[in-house]
Amino acid sequence: MAILEIITYPNRLLREKSKEIKKIDNNIISLVDDMIDTMFKNKGLGLSAIQVGIPLRIFIIDWVEEREENVSDDKERSKENIKIFINPVLYNFKEKFIMENEGCLSIPGVREDVERFYYVSIDAFNLDGEKFTINAEGILAVALQHEFDHLEGKLFIDRLSPVKRNFVLKEYKKKHKKKK
Ligand code: CO
Repeated sequence: MAILEIITYPNRLLREKSKEIKKIDNNIISLVDDMIDTMFKNKGLGLSAIQVGIPLRIFIIDWVEEREENVSDDKERSKENIKIFINPVLYNFKEKFIMENEGCLSIPGVREDVERFYYVSIDAFNLDGEKFTINAEGILAVALQHEFDHLEGKLFIDRLSPVKRNFVLKEYKKKHKKKK
């Protein structure tokens, strides 16, 4: 068990396309363990391997349909709710959309409304190497699309209008300069 360092924008690794996992070995199992600890520690709801600097096609999501606005340390967070997606494939996009306020542990302090598909289906493998399918809707579909984007080297800010994105990034850079 270890807390890993989360890389943040504009780290170029975040733009890399992650690679297929060929074999689920002990390295992958311990990576997932560390990712869960890292996500909990940082109060995240989802995390992709690339966010801890490992360009492999795997992400985890805290699979809870109803949640409080803020995840706090006081709340019991259970590893049982964590779903692991290895080599995922997204499909079944329908012409219905959802606007959700998104954030990302790799772009700390930024939250913006992003439009996504309301329904998606996903095929993926679990840690036992078994294939499974989920038909998701609403915020869970949003979470899947957000994390899947990471595997493709995309970030949620890419989905904002250029004007909005420039504004958000300017503010972000200002904030992060101040910290140094
Ligand atoms: Co993210």
